[in-house]
Amino acid sequence: MKVLVTGGMGYIGSHTCIQMLGAGITPVIFDNLYNSKQAVLQRIEKVTGHRLDFVKGDIRDKALLTKTLKTHAIDAVIHFAGLKAVGESVEKPLEYYDNNVNGTLVLVAAMQEAGVKSLVFSSSATVYGDPASVPITEDFPTSATNPYGRSKLMVEECLTDFHHANPDWSITLLRYFNPVGSHPSGELGEDPQGIPNNLMPFVSQVAVGRRDCLSVFGNDYPTPDGTGVRDYIHVVDLADGHIAALENVGAKMGLHIYNLGTGNGSSVLEMVKAFEAASGKQVPYQVVARRAGDIAECWADPSKAMQELGWKALRSLDDMTTDTWRWQSNNPQGYPDI
Ligand code: NAD
Ligand code: UFG
Repeated sequence: MKVLVTGGMGYIGSHTCIQMLGAGITPVIFDNLYNSKQAVLQRIEKVTGHRLDFVKGDIRDKALLTKTLKTHAIDAVIHFAGLKAVGESVEKPLEYYDNNVNGTLVLVAAMQEAGVKSLVFSSSATVYGDPASVPITEDFPTSATNPYGRSKLMVEECLTDFHHANPDWSITLLRYFNPVGSHPSGELGEDPQGIPNNLMPFVSQVAVGRRDCLSVFGNDYPTPDGTGVRDYIHVVDLADGHIAALENVGAKMGLHIYNLGTGNGSSVLEMVKAFEAASGKQVPYQVVARRAGDIAECWADPSKAMQELGWKALRSLDDMTTDTWRWQSNNPQGYPDI
């Protein structure tokens, strides 16, 4: 099977390409390198021993996408490409709607033209808004509180309408919880540009000495230690979830929706402690005000993915923090510019 991976040079996409190669699936990467570096390709090739096809292009370029789908005889598409920073989306909503919503519509139109009818889309637990309870199942109501979240919700709605009109397609919406961790080789990992928005990359940059101190956004939430609780999932487990989706429903007509999470919640302070244990480094922190738009707790009920895809997350919090530290300590400044 040959799969076009949009955004395959990014954090989750690059790890998914490695797992695909291990499963005998051939990825073709399509990425404009807006938020990733050329060095990722070399690292994937180093870790897997496989040469990869990489097309540098923008998902809003329908002609290039259609040509790529046809010339590579693509069977299915995994669609990671997009913008993902919540705060930035509030400042630049049009860029988010253009990249994430319009970009997906262009991709689907190109797939239609090329006759490719299997799509796996990177959605997010953000579509559950502030959930009434936890754990969250796929039938919970959806809502959005910022343009990033709204763009994911809009894409889900567009794809649902599209599927009504084209029931012979297989469309899978994967709702990720909080991906963290790195490839165990230490060759690939999360490499945010500028100040990290997310907890784990910030913690690991403090541990490696790139930043002085973590700000903990609030310790007065109704959670056991007062800090926010999330469902952190190892990025390699998440990557495997895509392969399970491709193999189990990728050729099955229908609109399929799955949570990809572990089913366990961890607090900010628990994550800091786990990271200190894995790295042997102190992570100084100070408690500051809550971050606007944050929720108290969020974790998945992942049982639907287990029942229908035979997938579940296998890696522990220790694996997540140990692997993150291996990547961060081997690559303190992230990927090199080549
Ligand atoms: P990332 O930024 O590391 O990867 C995205 C990749 O897409 C980058 O390589 C970027 O260069 C590319 N890209 C962006 N716009 C493009 C365009 N117009 N054309 C071609 N390529 C383009 O992000 P990630 O963390 O790997 O996330 C992948 C997907 O998963 C995104 O859609 C994101 O919204 C979703 N997601 C991520 C998280 C998370 O916490 N990381 C959580 C839930 C959902
Ligand atoms: N946090 C801090 N300090 C930081 C960063 C985060 O205390 O410097 C806290 C947050 O308040 C929250 C927890 O750490 O309690 C996790 O925050 P992240 O920013 O890492 O993750 P979020 O759950 O806020 O959001 C992430 C992605 C979203 C995605 C969501 C669900 O950023 O895009 O997971 O998948 F939608």
